[in-house]
Amino acid sequence: MSKKLKIGVLTGGGDAPGLNAVIYGIVRAAKNRFPGCELIGYKFGYRGLYNNDFMPLTLETTSGILHKGGSMLYNSNKDNLFDYIVGKDANGKFIKADVSDIGVENLKKEGVDVLVVLGGDGTLTSARDFARKGVKVIGVPKTIDNDLNATDKTYGFDSAVDVVVECLGRLHTTAESHHRVIVAEVMGRNSGWIALYAGVAGSADVILIPEIPFSFEKVAEKIKNRDATGKPFSIVVVCEGAFEKGGEVVIGKIVADSPDSIRHGGIAKYVEKRLEDLVDHEVRSCALGHIQRGGDTSPSDRLLSLRYATGAIDLIEQGKFGQMVSLKNGKMGSVSLEDVICENFDDRQRKVELDDEMVRVARNMGISFGT
Ligand code: F6P
Repeated sequence: MSKKLKIGVLTGGGDAPGLNAVIYGIVRAAKNRFPGCELIGYKFGYRGLYNNDFMPLTLETTSGILHKGGSMLYNSNKDNLFDYIVGKDANGKFIKADVSDIGVENLKKEGVDVLVVLGGDGTLTSARDFARKGVKVIGVPKTIDNDLNATDKTYGFDSAVDVVVECLGRLHTTAESHHRVIVAEVMGRNSGWIALYAGVAGSADVILIPEIPFSFEKVAEKIKNRDATGKPFSIVVVCEGAFEKGGEVVIGKIVADSPDSIRHGGIAKYVEKRLEDLVDHEVRSCALGHIQRGGDTSPSDRLLSLRYATGAIDLIEQGKFGQMVSLKNGKMGSVSLEDVICENFDDRQRKVELDDEMVRVARNMGISFGT
């Protein structure tokens, strides 16, 4: 009797709405297309692969998760098995080692034929490295930031935009009632997609993104123009990675044991302080933080996730490994993980182009980018 297909799944990096929907979709599509196949899910991303810590993924264990944010397999953005923390030296410095062979051995031990990896840049870098070691890997791109160049849209983004738009509506009522300026900080790292899309949909007056360094004078000018036209309140949306012309990105925290240790945060507070001297309003700030990454997955992200899941199973059926499922021009296809994680980091990142249609739309709506 020939061996039945066994698929391993893991979710790496930060959580994002849509991870559960992809897991749900993969299990159902696999069961339909490869009768008798078995699926397991490693817990806490690559850490689960290292510890051989997994759970069965069945129709029953994945029932009812389609709409839920987070990941039923849990997340970790600290566990790169190619540069893994194995201890501390006498000075308290982390000792790191390449323990990826243990991951490969564990896959063999469990008889896993294909590993499906759900994650963003860091997680997919390890996926590529496992592919180089001969593991049959398929990547499925996740991130609320929508900043992966190799695909047109990642799941998680639409859900995050939904939450931010709702929050902006709430901030509007207070800003209007008190005649205040409220600065809302959103995630996105060095890509301004969340700020741009949520800012336009949420009627922001000013949107500040990393791709367009801003000037405080120009932001104040916009606010004063609104005052002059009988709108004595304003909403400023700022991406966490945005910075003033000639200035620097504000760092919120260093997470020492994380491979990408820099966490952005604090720009809204900084903008609040600087603006208060320039406008005739009380200025308040609010960092939406993980609120925008949590909660239910939007219907649009659920559909996108199920398309990605079907795309992953298509690749398994076609025997195309070392690939990432990718959405290009409205169609699901795939791209080699070698191309996703290309040498030049800037080429990996999908940034807002200055001539992006949504930038033009925003300008047409009278929204200022602080320039
Ligand atoms: O990449 C997703 C993201 O939410 C970024 O927008 C944000 O900068 C970062 O992760 C926050 O990571 P953590 O949850 O580790 O603070």
